[in-house]
Amino acid sequence: MALYSEMVMDHFRNPRNTGVIENADGVGEVGNAKCGDIMKVYLKIEDDVIVDAKFETFGCGSAIASSSMATELIKGKPVSEALTLTNQAVVEALDGLPAHKIHCSVLAEEAIKKALEDYYEKRDNI
Ligand code: FES
Repeated sequence: MALYSEMVMDHFRNPRNTGVIENADGVGEVGNAKCGDIMKVYLKIEDDVIVDAKFETFGCGSAIASSSMATELIKGKPVSEALTLTNQAVVEALDGLPAHKIHCSVLAEEAIKKALEDYYEKRDNI
């Protein structure tokens, strides 16, 4: 069996939503101290709905595929739904990841949660 699913390879080779959103409503950056990979997520939010999501990932192929899939999963969703996104959901949507690559999907969940925290902080300080 191949180590990586077709879905992982597709999102690694053709990542969706790469880049930066200027004046994003929420930005979250996280890193994994062990592997040194870094992920940054940008969210554009209107009326508590995520209208756009982009990412920059300096990391492994699984981290790139995870951020690509995770941003796809939350685009168009209410903030309340995006808050419940788990790394398991990202792994499932990618048709699985090898056990030693699960932490890459955790990074995607954390980056999105951090960007949503940033959104709430900015909103509450207006
Ligand atoms: Fe660390 Fe993939 S090896 S995020």
